[in-house]
Amino acid sequence: MNKFIAIFLLALLTLSCQENQPAASGDQIEKKDAFITLYTHRHYDTDKVVFKTFEEETGVEVRVVKASADELIQKMESEGEQSPADLLISVDAGRLVRAKAKGLLQPVTSSVLEKNIPGYLKDSENNWFGITKRARIIAYDKNKVNPADLSTYEALTAPEWNKKVLIRSSGNIYNQSLLASIIAHHGEAKAGEWAAAMVKNMARSPRGNDRDQVKAILAGEGEVAVINTYYLGKLLNSKDPEEVKAGEAVQIFFPNQDGRGTHINVSGIGVAAHAPNKADAVRFIEYLSRKDVQETFAGTNYEYPVNPAASPSELLISWGEFKEDELPLPKLGELNKKAVITFDEAGWK
Ligand SMILES: [Fe+2]
Repeated sequence: MNKFIAIFLLALLTLSCQENQPAASGDQIEKKDAFITLYTHRHYDTDKVVFKTFEEETGVEVRVVKASADELIQKMESEGEQSPADLLISVDAGRLVRAKAKGLLQPVTSSVLEKNIPGYLKDSENNWFGITKRARIIAYDKNKVNPADLSTYEALTAPEWNKKVLIRSSGNIYNQSLLASIIAHHGEAKAGEWAAAMVKNMARSPRGNDRDQVKAILAGEGEVAVINTYYLGKLLNSKDPEEVKAGEAVQIFFPNQDGRGTHINVSGIGVAAHAPNKADAVRFIEYLSRKDVQETFAGTNYEYPVNPAASPSELLISWGEFKEDELPLPKLGELNKKAVITFDEAGWK
């Protein structure tokens, strides 16, 4: 009898050991427990593809928390040292400058990032890095506008564009950064004159997003719109035929080519000051900067890669090469407050 009990107990023990084994294996534990928490303001579903590949390559899970950059910054501030955030992604350099100023980011030393990301597209102290690039361009009505009549952002204030300019509200960070760049190049007074003259030339009171400005061109409300490049890519590839029609009604013009170059901005990323998983967070940024990942990450959202070794998508290549304004991007954040005040004074809604 005792023998039987002993055998039974042994069998039970063996079984339970086997059951525990997979959970105890290093591989499984890494897959289950390694993760990074990403606070992101990027509002593009295509990002998921790139995050998934990182998970497959590294076994590190990417946990995404989505909200506006301002909300995320506020969240990180109130969470303090307890914040679960490892990384912060914003769609504009301005917000990253603000996050850094509040002490919410930390410097990163990485020879990979050093090599992959040009100096003017990142923070001077490596608190954040541009990961995709976009240009703020003029989309013009193919049927009504001769591109030879276009030249600069400044020239949109000329009388010939009276009641023909479409651009979104001043509350938008893309416009704030554009104005910040004009302040950096011409000073506050000139930038104020520009903003006031733009208001006079507006086809309508600012409303909607960048896509809506192009749709307004199709509707005949105006002839030129100031928008980010990727919105045109989105329109042209939309499932909605009306959006495709709007995209096809316009052409791209890169302003200020004979001068400082077209205003560009980045969506960027920084490691949180209290990142619980710093090593994997840095690994994630390095991954995003890699040539092949850059091509997918930027390409799927019709953005330009920041890594010079990566090539843009075919659509972007078809738009042609252009000269970029190489104003260091941290300037845009530093001048953000001045830009907001200048817009208010100019009566730009
Ligand atoms: Fe956007």
